[in-house]
Amino acid sequence: MEKLLSAFRDRYGGTGDVRIFRAPGRVNLIGEHTDYNGGYVFPAAIGYFSTVAVRKTDTGKIRLGAVDIPDSVELDLAHLGDYKNLTWGNYQAGVAWVLQRAGYEIASCDVLYEDTVPFGAGLSSSAAIEVVFALMLATFSNEKKGIDSPVDMVSLARLAQQAENEYCGVGCGIMDQFACAMGRQDQAIFLDCRDLSYRYVPLALSGYRIVIANTKKKRSLAESKYNQRCAECASALADLQRVYPDISCLRDVSVAMFETAADRVSDPVCRKRAEHVVTECDRVLRSVEALSRGDLCAFGRLMNESHDSLRDLYEVTGTHLDTMVSLSRKAPGCIGSRMTGAGFGGCTVSLVAEDCVDRFTEEVFSGYREATGLEPEFYVTAAFDGAKEIF
Ligand code: GLA
Repeated sequence: MEKLLSAFRDRYGGTGDVRIFRAPGRVNLIGEHTDYNGGYVFPAAIGYFSTVAVRKTDTGKIRLGAVDIPDSVELDLAHLGDYKNLTWGNYQAGVAWVLQRAGYEIASCDVLYEDTVPFGAGLSSSAAIEVVFALMLATFSNEKKGIDSPVDMVSLARLAQQAENEYCGVGCGIMDQFACAMGRQDQAIFLDCRDLSYRYVPLALSGYRIVIANTKKKRSLAESKYNQRCAECASALADLQRVYPDISCLRDVSVAMFETAADRVSDPVCRKRAEHVVTECDRVLRSVEALSRGDLCAFGRLMNESHDSLRDLYEVTGTHLDTMVSLSRKAPGCIGSRMTGAGFGGCTVSLVAEDCVDRFTEEVFSGYREATGLEPEFYVTAAFDGAKEIF
């Protein structure tokens, strides 16, 4: 924190109170590509953060910088719609634009970011950047208006998602922003994306650890393929609605309903996508149950099934993720392993016996390097609190 504060003073000079907010990245334990189908997800916030140091000014502008980027960007509060094409700063501009539209009073300020969430690795570095910015702006707005109730983090997650959808053109679901905003120490979040009802589930992993492995594979074409999957799900839904007029999203289709009507989904590719979503929602429910009764091996098996479904039916894994997962499953102490996040590269998540974590990472590291020529990175993490002001 001291380092960030002194970097802030070096960059912007001046005096006056500097405050610090931070938001974590997230790992999704199971429930992939279900959120935009109204389904269930089961993420946890992780111990890697997007942190901002901020000081209010009276310039009518937000100056934005990051410790590892020499240049700063300036956002004029009267023209927040104009920054869609920035390569860095567009997410923050989008958040400010959406909050302003929602009636928040956007404060002028100088902001410096420090990020430890690995970028582009499927651990929600962009959601962390958005959510911390949204929390900071909403806090200032409430102070200005004399509102002393705490910021509503669920609406903030929704606004951050809107910024990504409408301003940055990424059609993501709500999971990432929700997890970054609502994470809780030692708990995972069982979230129903149809109505945003949620429940915390203790991550009682007795003797096991969550190990995230970064394939270091860049996520090529991830956005266009992501949007294509959304469209394929919409098409399967339209076909299934002819059989079940009351359903409004794929999550409304149970496994039994899907089995009865699968052949009514005319396109075989869309049928596979829908089968993944329907069975994945069911796996989330069974995972939460397994975890609640302390059956970690059952949870691990469901993680494996989830990956296999994402590989064979949803087709979002690819060689690097598949290699990482199969090496992980063979490595010491691993009882379940799957890709996490959107896929097409990024990270895997595995459940590994605590006393085997070192051997696990050593074996997977060398096997993966040999198979792909890339050096993976590992993050052994617990569940952390969501976004908050820390100084
Ligand atoms: C990305 C999106 C999320 C979710 C996952 C896949 O992380 O931002 O909304 O759809 O992919 O589960």
